Amino acid sequence: MSAMAREKPSKVRTKLDGLPSLPQRLAQTRALLNAVREVPRELTRASKDVREFSRELKRVYAELRRIELRFDGVLRHLYFDAQQLPPPADLTWQRFKVYSQNGEDGLTLALLKRIGLGAGRFVDIGCGPMGGNARFFAEEFGWSGLFVDAREQVKRLEAQLRPGQVTALATWVTRDNVDSLVRDHGFEGEIDLLSIDLDGNDYWVWEALTACSPRIAIVEYNSFFGPDRAVTVPYSESFDRHERDRRYYGASLAALVALAGQKGYRLVAVEPAGVNAFFLRDDVAPEVPGFRADQLYRSQVKHHLEMAQRGFDPFEAFTPENGLPLVDVA
Ligand SMILES: C[S@@+](CC[C@H](N)C(=O)[O-])C[C@H]1O[C@@H](n2cnc3c(N)ncnc32)[C@H](O)[C@@H]1O
Repeated sequence: MSAMAREKPSKVRTKLDGLPSLPQRLAQTRALLNAVREVPRELTRASKDVREFSRELKRVYAELRRIELRFDGVLRHLYFDAQQLPPPADLTWQRFKVYSQNGEDGLTLALLKRIGLGAGRFVDIGCGPMGGNARFFAEEFGWSGLFVDAREQVKRLEAQLRPGQVTALATWVTRDNVDSLVRDHGFEGEIDLLSIDLDGNDYWVWEALTACSPRIAIVEYNSFFGPDRAVTVPYSESFDRHERDRRYYGASLAALVALAGQKGYRLVAVEPAGVNAFFLRDDVAPEVPGFRADQLYRSQVKHHLEMAQRGFDPFEAFTPENGLPLVDVA
């Protein structure tokens, strides 16, 4: 073999020389593996960020909605005098939201303007961490009262108001303990405002509550049940809306109106978002007229869409066979 032939590297040799050495390749593979191992951690970090972002969006949305409903209230007040409207629009025209879910704060205030402020005592059952329908009156008028909710965060309400002004209980309410809760905390007899919003046993808890006599009662109804039928979910001490079907909870407006009649109350307004119904004790401001459920019924928009567009029929879906019985209380 000539010297020239010996010096010329073979094609295979040239290719091999161009490749990384074994240690280099091992190092590259390790780096790649490390990068791959990072992927799930990165994904977890990214999904946390997305969750945090969506919570932030919800907070911003809630804040914007609050501003919108206050602004709407101001506009209504500026452009038309509520007193010129027939009942119940003379009340609902005055709705606005500060702490309540929709326009309940303004609507309650409109009723108080008619019936007088009273002694300033309330009981709010299922008030949620924000203090529900009574918070505005505790905050603005210094009302004293009892906030009750299963959630621990409710206790913060005590610190957010004047020391000793309110009692906030993180307690599970049943029809058997509701009277003693009210009595034991000094709210028996006449109070100015009762709110019940449990997304479950609302009918039964209101029925059982006799320890106090509210001038105004605000009770949430389930608009899926429509304007006519007087139905409620059966009493179950541990009822949890999220256990079976989130649409299966509470009572129809007609059921609450029937119960109100038995308890000596009349339906005077429904907040237009279709969530809360307003009742006055019969001896209070008799000039404020009472209505039937079908006259004031409003549906929550999302309930209406589910029924109208997706064909959801609560009375087909909620049957004993499906494990979702209803009780007729007419
Ligand atoms: C729709 S949220 C209330 C919202 C609140 N009222 C507002 O206007 O913002 C229903 C509340 O009822 C509470 N709740 C449900 N069942 C309960 C029970 N049996 N005893 C106490 N609280 C209950 C839940 O913890 C929840 O905060």
